[in-house]
Amino acid sequence: MNKTTVLVTGGAGFIGSHLCDRLLSEGFRVICLDNLITGSLHNLRRSSGCNRFIFKKHNLEKYIAIKGKLDFVLHFASLASPADYLKFPIQTLNAGSLATYTTLDLAKKKRARYILASTSEVYGDPLVHPQREEYWGNVNPVGVRSCYDESKRFAEALTMAYHRVHKLNTSIIRIFNTYGPRMRINDGRAVPNFIHQALNNRPLSVYGRGRQTRSFCYIDDLIEGILRIMRSDKIGPLNLGNPKEFTILRLAKLVLKLTAGKGGITFKPLPQDDPRQRCPDITLVKKLFNWQPAIELGEGLKMTIEWFSKRKRFP
Ligand SMILES: NC(=O)c1ccc[n+]([C@@H]2O[C@H](COP(=O)([O-])OP(=O)(O)OC[C@H]3O[C@@H](n4cnc5c(N)ncnc54)[C@H](O)[C@@H]3O)[C@@H](O)[C@H]2O)c1
Repeated sequence: MNKTTVLVTGGAGFIGSHLCDRLLSEGFRVICLDNLITGSLHNLRRSSGCNRFIFKKHNLEKYIAIKGKLDFVLHFASLASPADYLKFPIQTLNAGSLATYTTLDLAKKKRARYILASTSEVYGDPLVHPQREEYWGNVNPVGVRSCYDESKRFAEALTMAYHRVHKLNTSIIRIFNTYGPRMRINDGRAVPNFIHQALNNRPLSVYGRGRQTRSFCYIDDLIEGILRIMRSDKIGPLNLGNPKEFTILRLAKLVLKLTAGKGGITFKPLPQDDPRQRCPDITLVKKLFNWQPAIELGEGLKMTIEWFSKRKRFP
């Protein structure tokens, strides 16, 4: 039996729960810590049926006590969607600072490999396109989004300090927009927002003229990339995301087509500090791990729409 034990923080959230499922399916023991601020135990229904899985409700801002050995600590807990971090800016900063400290300290005690889920938001509104890992970013440190961007930049700095001072085996993954089943219908991100509106025949809210670009990676592709990085000894930072760039307007039209939504599109004012362009350069992960997304946007959207359509009566 595989005795390798992985701690997943934020495991009741969108990405964390898929990560728990996949780790269990590969035979790992998984401990999930989450305070359920945005996560849900529903996301863990599959994992909970496995006797190698343990869930503990815990706020990671506080000291973590875990008995026994840990081989990996995957720190995925953070408020992550603009709607959430605008509502909980202090908890967001704490997830990048205090919770990163408690999890790094635990990894140090257990001599575990530590993986930080960082974000493309560290590049801010980028002046370099597509974004390579060497780019230092263009972030407004006092804007409304700074609670997220700066908390992740701090988390990256703290992770590197533990790596340099304590020789901790660490890695930083900069995740670009990811979508799929288990996103919350009301979390404000473009994909669930559009699908929810389209399935209810409401107009799709496009901000600005919809010319801003994003790249959309299906969850299964992302999880595959995370596992390859976890099993390696690479430090990063490493971009993971889909390098195919789409305008938000094109995404809206595709969702309308796939759902046969009848509400059309409505244009709304652009939010403050909304990045105009976002696209990963994934040359490094391609070279190191032979990783690139395999699931086309249309295919991934179909699977996501199918999942959401079973929940379309949610508010
Ligand atoms: N989804 C994306 O497109 C995306 C993109 C870039 C980076 N990320 C990063 O990936 C990680 C997961 O994102 P997600 O989309 O799954 O978000 P999510 O909101 O679905 O999941 C985050 C989880 O963290 C938990 N959490 C937050 N603060 C906590 C705390 N103090 N103690 C314990 N648990 C806490 C929440 O309850 C939730 O279950 C985050 O670190 C996020 O910054 C996600």
